[in-house]
Amino acid sequence: MRTQIQRKIRFWQALFCFAVLWSNTEAQLRYTIPEELKEGSIVGNVAKDLGLEVSEISNRKLRIASESAKQYFSLNLRNGDLLVNEIIDRETFCGQSTSCVLPLQVIIEDPLQFYRVEVDIQDINDNSPNFLSEINVIEVPESTLTGARFRLEPAQDPDAGTNSLRTYSLNKNDYFVLQMKNDKDGTKVPEIVLEKAVDREKQSVHHLILTGIDGGDPARSGTTQITIKILDANDNAPIFEQDLYEIKVIESTVPGTIILTVKAIDSDDGANSEVEYSFGAHTPEIIQRLFAINPVTGELVASNHLDYEISTSYKIDIRAKDKGPLAMESHCRIQVAVLDVNDNTPEITITSSPKPVREDAPTGTMVALINVKDLDSGVNGNVTLDMSPGTPFKLKPTFSNHYALVTNERLDREAFPTYQIELKAKDSGIPHLLSSKLITVNILDVNDNPPVFSEPVYCVYIKENSAPGSILASVTASDLDTGDNAQIVYSVLDTNTRDILVSSYVYINSENGSIFSMHSFDYEKTKVFHIVVHAKDNGSPSLSSNATVHVFILDQNDNAPAVIYPSTTMGSVSNQRMPRSAKVGHLATKVTAVDADSGHNAWLFYRLVEATDASLFNVNLHTGEVRTKRSVLEQDDPSQRLLIEVKDNGEPIQSTTVTVDILIEEGINEPISDSRMKTTESNKKSGKITLYLIISLGTVSVLSLLTLFTLIVKCVRNSLGSSHCCLWRTDSGYKNSNRNLQIQLNTDGPIKYVEVLGGDMMSQSQSFGSYLSPMSEFSDLTLVKPSSTTNFTDTLNVLDASLPDSAWIFESQQVSACYFCIHS
Ligand SMILES: *[C@@H]1O[C@H](CO)[C@@H](O)[C@H](O)[C@H]1NC(C)=O
Ligand SMILES: *[C@@H]1O[C@H](CO)[C@@H](O)[C@H](O)[C@H]1NC(C)=O
Ligand SMILES: *[C@@H]1O[C@H](CO)[C@@H](O)[C@H](O)[C@H]1NC(C)=O
Repeated sequence: MRTQIQRKIRFWQALFCFAVLWSNTEAQLRYTIPEELKEGSIVGNVAKDLGLEVSEISNRKLRIASESAKQYFSLNLRNGDLLVNEIIDRETFCGQSTSCVLPLQVIIEDPLQFYRVEVDIQDINDNSPNFLSEINVIEVPESTLTGARFRLEPAQDPDAGTNSLRTYSLNKNDYFVLQMKNDKDGTKVPEIVLEKAVDREKQSVHHLILTGIDGGDPARSGTTQITIKILDANDNAPIFEQDLYEIKVIESTVPGTIILTVKAIDSDDGANSEVEYSFGAHTPEIIQRLFAINPVTGELVASNHLDYEISTSYKIDIRAKDKGPLAMESHCRIQVAVLDVNDNTPEITITSSPKPVREDAPTGTMVALINVKDLDSGVNGNVTLDMSPGTPFKLKPTFSNHYALVTNERLDREAFPTYQIELKAKDSGIPHLLSSKLITVNILDVNDNPPVFSEPVYCVYIKENSAPGSILASVTASDLDTGDNAQIVYSVLDTNTRDILVSSYVYINSENGSIFSMHSFDYEKTKVFHIVVHAKDNGSPSLSSNATVHVFILDQNDNAPAVIYPSTTMGSVSNQRMPRSAKVGHLATKVTAVDADSGHNAWLFYRLVEATDASLFNVNLHTGEVRTKRSVLEQDDPSQRLLIEVKDNGEPIQSTTVTVDILIEEGINEPISDSRMKTTESNKKSGKITLYLIISLGTVSVLSLLTLFTLIVKCVRNSLGSSHCCLWRTDSGYKNSNRNLQIQLNTDGPIKYVEVLGGDMMSQSQSFGSYLSPMSEFSDLTLVKPSSTTNFTDTLNVLDASLPDSAWIFESQQVSACYFCIHS
């Protein structure tokens, strides 16, 4: 390199000297050669051109001198040819100057002569146009308007003249065209002109090839690659992948869940393509509260609890904005459909609370109105209402989700005064949601139950002579109803007991059913009576029922025995007569006494208390017969006085005494005559008695028939209820004694009495009956023979007839009631 520069410098020194010389001499010879000739190539024959002989060449010492240090030429001394000594590159000497001449000095001695030779070096196209850089990069903003010019680096061609660079060409493309511009120095500068707007998004880099072509023949060319980079302009808005996104989200979505990712693509570059997501400008507050959008990722998040019941859908506008200068944006819409989840339990509303229902309400009576509601929709909100089974109510659907609770059966407050009804609402969602409600329905009482006595028939026993105002009996009735309907008022119905109003005997406490006597009772007058108690409730209308109280008066030993034979007129003593001839066991007389009391109170015992001669008579304890103990002696006092005591068997014992005077008479011998006498004596009397008896029997028969008939009628009337009665009726009489009730005719010595015994647990005090004491005068005529009695009814009737103060019919009617009492 250094040597080349030195050489060049020397060359220019030489050229300067040559120029000096040139001023003295003029050129004699001029040759023209192309550059780049090979060594040894002949430029011309200097000798000949100078007119020298060949011989002169050596003689005159022809030689050449280069004006530069370098000897490009040499001289052939034999023939004077100028030869190329070294390959000459014109561009090296002359650059791109149009003429390139190498001067030479030809020197001839003897005489010394100088000739000047010029060698014109002609250019040949030995250089191609050359670009300094192989790749040129030009940056073109994509917003550049068409017509814009971009200067390119020109190519270099050291050749001169036509061989130098003549033109450029550009490969064919759509966007750029080539234009050439001549600089002031004449350099041809290539320029590319934007012919069509570039779009980085379509093509971000354009590759062009610029060719420089020289004017040589053949032309030579050189190329360079031009890379045009299109600089991004923010000319593209982000574009969403979809304009409308439709998504479905269940309402139970957990807050924070990503429900959708939107994506917008910006085809720009760099920040121009960086997209930021946000809600649209006028997004309602509710959406901002429920949703959030991630500005970077575009994830839509449910940030709060969704509720289908509040809103079933949302429209969300999303904005995508790039970060370029003059940011561009676009929008998309998200349609969020909220899907219902069965998250609401059905609700039961009692729109009309249950009213108390009367127990006689007809079926279908409305009790309550119920409404069910479920905020969910569709199947989840489809509610069915049920109620607990086993109640006399049902649910009657009215219109959608409304129900009426109505009665479905007859009600009975006495059985179920109140109902707890569980209403159950269930939706059809999966899983079901349930809710329930308890309602209470009270049943109102209706007076449909009569008072019921604790017993249909009461039997009470009171002692005779008890103080008036004492409590007789207490009856109670109960009523299944409530309130006034169960408030019972007792009263006594006026029935007659042998023309005496019962209300005059007794008084009832209307509130508690205690019955008080208003009299004392005398068994000997009234043995039994009955009270019909009426219980009435306070309902409207009121209901009532009756019960019968049979009051049996118990005998007390309140009557002393009364001697009826021998009859004694006040103060006097009766006289009996007997013959002195009477033997042992002679019946002197017979004391007959009666006791108004009954039973044991009327059992009489006879005892001899005092006697004129105690050894003569004795008194039969039971019969009261006074018989002789021994034969009457001569010395026996004809007048014998006996004091006989008659005692009953009651408690305390009541007694009476009778004084009997017996006259022992001579001449009256035989008892036969006595009886005959007695017969004749009482012939008149007995005729009268027979008449009485016949009348009595007739009356009694009629009465007993009537009694039987009355009983039958009564039983038929009461029939249905009382089986006892019917049993009684079929028994038709007193015949059947195989029952607890015993009716028997007792014989106790001369005392014959009927005893009606009720069961064995009943003591003597529960028996009652009529006692028949034979009246001495009629004793022989007594028709009743207990042992031979076949028809008891007859016996009773006879007995009945025989009793002077008889309530027998009354009693016999009551026998059935009593039987009932004992049994119940
Ligand atoms: C509601 O549910 C009942 C019983 O499950 C069904 O019979 C009825 O068709 C349903 N109605 C609707 C509107 O789904
Ligand atoms: C009913 O009331 C009367 C008077 O107040 C009373 O003497 C009687 O003992 C009461 N009876 C009952 C069963 O309480
Ligand atoms: C109660 O007895 C009275 C009188 O005998 C009668 O009028 C009434 O109907 C009876 N009441 C009932 C419920 O049997």
